[in-house]
Amino acid sequence: MIDDKLKHIAIIMDGNGRWAEARGKKRSAGHKAGSETLEKIATHAVDIGLKYLSVYAFSTDNFKRSEEEVNYLMDLFIEMFTKNFEKLLDKGIKVVFSGAKEGLRADVLNAMDDIVERSKNNNKATLNVCLNYGGREEIIRACERYHEDLVSGKVKKGEINRDTFTRYLDNDLPPIDILIRTGKEKRVSNFMLYELYYAEMYFLDTLFPDFTPEMLDDIIADFYGVERRFGGINYEKSSS
Ligand code: FPP
Repeated sequence: MIDDKLKHIAIIMDGNGRWAEARGKKRSAGHKAGSETLEKIATHAVDIGLKYLSVYAFSTDNFKRSEEEVNYLMDLFIEMFTKNFEKLLDKGIKVVFSGAKEGLRADVLNAMDDIVERSKNNNKATLNVCLNYGGREEIIRACERYHEDLVSGKVKKGEINRDTFTRYLDNDLPPIDILIRTGKEKRVSNFMLYELYYAEMYFLDTLFPDFTPEMLDDIIADFYGVERRFGGINYEKSSS
Protein backbone atom coordinates (compact mmCIF):
# COMPACT_ATOMS: atom_id res chain seq x y z
CA MET A 1 0.00 0.00 0.00
CA ILE A 2 2.80 2.41 0.91
CA ASP A 3 5.68 3.16 -1.47
CA ASP A 4 8.57 5.62 -1.57
CA LYS A 5 6.24 8.58 -2.10
CA LEU A 6 5.09 8.30 1.51
CA LYS A 7 7.84 7.97 4.08
CA HIS A 8 6.86 10.11 7.02
CA ILE A 9 3.58 10.74 8.84
CA ALA A 10 3.33 13.07 11.83
CA ILE A 11 0.44 13.19 14.30
CA ILE A 12 -0.66 15.89 16.73
CA MET A 13 -2.52 13.69 19.19
CA ASP A 14 -5.07 16.21 20.43
CA GLY A 15 -8.33 15.71 22.29
CA ASN A 16 -7.46 13.30 25.09
CA GLY A 17 -8.76 15.66 27.78
CA ARG A 18 -12.07 16.35 26.01
CA TRP A 19 -12.52 12.63 25.35
CA ALA A 20 -12.27 11.96 29.10
CA GLU A 21 -14.40 14.94 30.14
CA ALA A 22 -17.19 13.84 27.77
CA ARG A 23 -17.27 10.57 29.69
CA GLY A 24 -17.24 12.20 33.12
CA LYS A 25 -13.70 10.92 33.70
CA LYS A 26 -10.47 12.62 34.76
CA ARG A 27 -8.23 13.99 32.02
CA SER A 28 -5.68 11.31 32.91
CA ALA A 29 -8.11 8.64 31.65
CA GLY A 30 -8.02 10.38 28.28
CA HIS A 31 -4.22 10.28 28.17
CA LYS A 32 -4.26 6.58 29.07
CA ALA A 33 -6.78 5.90 26.28
CA GLY A 34 -4.63 8.03 23.94
CA SER A 35 -1.57 5.96 24.76
CA GLU A 36 -3.46 2.79 23.81
CA THR A 37 -4.51 4.42 20.54
CA LEU A 38 -0.90 5.34 19.83
CA GLU A 39 0.18 1.71 20.31
CA LYS A 40 -2.48 0.58 17.81
CA ILE A 41 -1.60 3.28 15.28
CA ALA A 42 2.16 2.65 15.48
CA THR A 43 1.62 -1.10 15.13
CA HIS A 44 -0.58 -0.56 12.10
CA ALA A 45 1.85 1.95 10.58
CA VAL A 46 4.72 -0.51 10.67
CA ASP A 47 2.48 -3.32 9.38
CA ILE A 48 1.56 -1.30 6.28
CA GLY A 49 5.19 -0.37 5.62
CA LEU A 50 5.46 3.21 6.88
CA LYS A 51 9.09 4.05 7.63
CA TYR A 52 8.74 7.13 9.88
CA LEU A 53 6.05 8.12 12.36
CA SER A 54 6.43 11.27 14.48
CA VAL A 55 4.09 12.02 17.38
CA TYR A 56 3.62 15.10 19.57
CA ALA A 57 3.64 13.63 23.06
CA PHE A 58 4.36 16.75 25.13
CA SER A 59 5.09 20.30 24.07
CA THR A 60 7.33 22.65 26.06
CA ASP A 61 4.14 24.67 26.67
CA ASN A 62 2.40 21.64 28.22
CA PHE A 63 4.43 22.34 31.37
CA LYS A 64 1.86 25.11 32.00
CA ARG A 65 -0.71 22.41 32.88
CA SER A 66 -1.46 21.42 36.47
CA GLU A 67 1.31 19.64 38.34
CA GLU A 68 -1.00 16.65 38.73
CA GLU A 69 -1.55 16.31 34.96
CA VAL A 70 2.14 16.85 34.11
CA ASN A 71 3.20 14.23 36.66
CA TYR A 72 0.57 11.80 35.39
CA LEU A 73 1.83 12.22 31.83
CA MET A 74 5.48 11.77 32.86
CA ASP A 75 4.60 8.59 34.79
CA LEU A 76 2.62 7.36 31.76
CA PHE A 77 5.60 7.99 29.46
CA ILE A 78 7.83 5.94 31.78
CA GLU A 79 5.29 3.10 31.81
CA MET A 80 5.04 3.18 28.01
CA PHE A 81 8.80 3.26 27.41
CA THR A 82 9.68 0.61 29.99
CA LYS A 83 6.74 -1.77 29.41
CA ASN A 84 4.01 -1.10 26.86
CA PHE A 85 6.28 -0.23 23.92
CA GLU A 86 7.92 -3.67 24.13
CA LYS A 87 5.54 -5.00 21.45
CA LEU A 88 6.55 -2.15 19.14
CA LEU A 89 10.22 -2.97 19.67
CA ASP A 90 9.49 -6.63 18.85
CA LYS A 91 8.04 -5.42 15.55
CA GLY A 92 11.36 -3.79 14.68
CA ILE A 93 10.57 -0.18 15.60
CA LYS A 94 13.43 2.09 16.58
CA VAL A 95 12.41 4.79 19.08
CA VAL A 96 14.05 8.22 18.95
CA PHE A 97 13.18 11.47 20.74
CA SER A 98 13.03 15.08 19.67
CA GLY A 99 12.90 17.89 22.19
CA ALA A 100 14.85 19.46 25.03
CA LYS A 101 16.28 17.31 27.79
CA GLU A 102 16.47 20.24 30.23
CA GLY A 103 13.51 20.37 32.58
CA LEU A 104 12.62 16.68 32.34
CA ARG A 105 12.70 14.46 35.43
CA ALA A 106 15.69 12.14 35.80
CA ASP A 107 13.50 9.01 35.82
CA VAL A 108 11.85 10.11 32.55
CA LEU A 109 15.27 10.76 30.97
CA ASN A 110 16.46 7.32 32.11
CA ALA A 111 13.44 5.60 30.57
CA MET A 112 14.02 7.55 27.33
CA ASP A 113 17.74 6.69 27.18
CA ASP A 114 16.94 3.08 27.92
CA ILE A 115 14.42 2.60 25.11
CA VAL A 116 16.68 4.43 22.63
CA GLU A 117 19.49 2.05 23.54
CA ARG A 118 17.31 -1.09 23.44
CA SER A 119 15.82 -0.22 20.05
CA LYS A 120 18.84 1.34 18.33
CA ASN A 121 19.49 -1.63 16.03
CA ASN A 122 15.86 -1.97 14.91
CA ASN A 123 15.39 -0.95 11.30
CA LYS A 124 11.83 -1.69 10.18
CA ALA A 125 10.49 1.76 11.12
CA THR A 126 11.33 4.76 13.30
CA LEU A 127 8.99 6.23 15.89
CA ASN A 128 10.03 9.80 16.69
CA VAL A 129 8.49 10.86 19.99
CA CYS A 130 8.45 14.65 20.42
CA LEU A 131 8.65 15.20 24.16
CA ASN A 132 9.31 18.55 25.83
CA TYR A 133 9.28 19.71 22.23
CA GLY A 134 8.85 22.98 20.36
CA GLY A 135 9.50 23.42 16.65
CA ARG A 136 11.03 26.88 16.88
CA GLU A 137 13.25 25.70 19.76
CA GLU A 138 14.40 22.74 17.62
CA ILE A 139 15.42 25.13 14.82
CA ILE A 140 17.39 27.24 17.31
CA ARG A 141 19.17 24.10 18.63
CA ALA A 142 19.99 23.21 15.01
CA CYS A 143 21.42 26.69 14.38
CA GLU A 144 23.60 26.36 17.47
CA ARG A 145 24.96 22.99 16.26
CA TYR A 146 25.55 24.42 12.78
CA HIS A 147 27.32 27.42 14.26
CA GLU A 148 29.66 25.11 16.22
CA ASP A 149 30.56 23.27 13.00
CA LEU A 150 31.18 26.57 11.19
CA VAL A 151 33.41 27.86 13.97
CA SER A 152 35.39 24.61 14.20
CA GLY A 153 35.73 24.50 10.40
CA LYS A 154 33.88 21.16 10.12
CA VAL A 155 31.64 22.79 7.50
CA LYS A 156 32.25 25.82 5.33
CA LYS A 157 29.86 28.70 4.59
CA GLY A 158 27.66 27.74 1.64
CA GLU A 159 28.20 23.99 2.10
CA ILE A 160 24.87 23.38 3.84
CA ASN A 161 21.61 23.69 1.94
CA ARG A 162 17.96 23.43 2.97
CA ASP A 163 18.02 19.64 2.58
CA THR A 164 21.30 18.92 4.35
CA PHE A 165 20.49 21.34 7.22
CA THR A 166 18.24 18.59 8.62
CA ARG A 167 21.36 16.87 9.97
CA TYR A 168 21.46 19.59 12.64
CA LEU A 169 17.88 19.03 13.80
CA ASP A 170 17.24 16.79 16.82
CA ASN A 171 16.84 13.86 14.39
CA ASP A 172 17.70 13.75 10.70
CA LEU A 173 14.33 12.60 9.36
CA PRO A 174 12.83 12.77 5.88
CA PRO A 175 10.35 15.60 5.23
CA ILE A 176 6.87 15.03 6.63
CA ASP A 177 4.49 13.93 3.88
CA ILE A 178 1.29 13.88 5.94
CA LEU A 179 0.41 15.83 9.08
CA ILE A 180 -2.65 14.62 10.97
CA ARG A 181 -4.17 16.63 13.80
CA THR A 182 -7.06 15.15 15.71
CA GLY A 183 -9.32 17.09 18.08
CA LYS A 184 -10.95 19.76 15.86
CA GLU A 185 -8.32 22.54 16.04
CA LYS A 186 -6.75 23.64 12.76
CA ARG A 187 -3.27 24.77 13.67
CA VAL A 188 0.29 23.48 13.75
CA SER A 189 1.07 24.44 17.37
CA ASN A 190 4.86 24.75 17.00
CA PHE A 191 5.21 21.15 15.80
CA MET A 192 8.12 20.12 13.53
CA LEU A 193 8.11 23.43 11.63
CA TYR A 194 11.21 22.72 9.55
CA GLU A 195 10.10 19.22 8.56
CA LEU A 196 6.47 20.16 7.73
CA TYR A 197 7.35 22.43 4.83
CA TYR A 198 5.41 20.57 2.14
CA ALA A 199 3.16 18.29 4.20
CA GLU A 200 -0.40 17.56 3.23
CA MET A 201 -2.51 18.52 6.25
CA TYR A 202 -5.43 16.54 7.64
CA PHE A 203 -7.43 18.10 10.47
CA LEU A 204 -9.96 15.74 12.02
CA ASP A 205 -12.83 16.40 14.42
CA THR A 206 -12.18 12.96 15.93
CA LEU A 207 -10.61 13.08 19.39
CA PHE A 208 -7.31 11.19 19.52
CA PRO A 209 -8.49 8.21 21.64
CA ASP A 210 -11.16 7.57 18.95
CA PHE A 211 -8.65 7.69 16.06
CA THR A 212 -8.42 4.28 14.38
CA PRO A 213 -6.09 2.45 11.97
CA GLU A 214 -8.95 2.55 9.43
CA MET A 215 -8.99 6.34 9.62
CA LEU A 216 -5.25 6.33 8.98
CA ASP A 217 -5.81 4.11 5.94
CA ASP A 218 -8.45 6.53 4.60
CA ILE A 219 -6.03 9.46 4.94
CA ILE A 220 -3.28 7.52 3.16
CA ALA A 221 -5.69 6.62 0.34
CA ASP A 222 -6.65 10.28 0.02
CA PHE A 223 -2.97 11.30 0.00
CA TYR A 224 -2.29 8.99 -2.91
CA GLY A 225 -5.02 10.78 -4.85
CA VAL A 226 -3.33 14.15 -4.37
CA GLU A 227 -1.00 15.51 -7.03
CA ARG A 228 2.15 16.99 -5.45
CA ARG A 229 4.00 19.53 -7.62
CA PHE A 230 6.32 21.12 -4.99
CA GLY A 231 5.70 24.55 -6.52
CA GLY A 232 6.34 23.38 -10.08
CA ILE A 233 4.10 22.11 -12.85
CA ASN A 234 3.35 18.54 -13.80
CA TYR A 235 4.48 18.83 -17.44
CA GLU A 236 3.04 15.44 -18.39
CA LYS A 237 -0.44 16.75 -17.58
CA SER A 238 -0.07 20.40 -18.60
CA SER A 239 -0.58 21.49 -22.21
CA SER A 240 0.80 25.05 -22.03
C1 FPP B 1 -3.21 16.51 23.86
O1 FPP B 1 -4.55 16.33 24.28
C2 FPP B 1 -2.41 15.37 24.28
C3 FPP B 1 -1.32 15.43 25.09
C4 FPP B 1 -0.80 16.68 25.65
C5 FPP B 1 -0.61 14.19 25.49
C6 FPP B 1 -0.43 13.15 24.42
C7 FPP B 1 -0.02 11.92 25.06
C8 FPP B 1 -0.45 10.68 24.75
C9 FPP B 1 -1.34 10.37 23.61
C10 FPP B 1 0.02 9.58 25.62
C11 FPP B 1 0.95 8.60 25.01
C12 FPP B 1 2.12 9.15 24.39
C13 FPP B 1 3.34 8.54 24.38
C14 FPP B 1 4.37 9.03 23.49
C15 FPP B 1 3.70 7.41 25.24
P1 FPP B 1 -5.17 17.39 25.30
O2 FPP B 1 -4.89 16.92 26.68
O3 FPP B 1 -4.64 18.75 24.98
O4 FPP B 1 -6.68 17.27 24.98
P2 FPP B 1 -7.74 18.44 25.06
O5 FPP B 1 -7.40 19.42 23.96
O6 FPP B 1 -9.02 17.73 24.80
O7 FPP B 1 -7.66 19.04 26.42
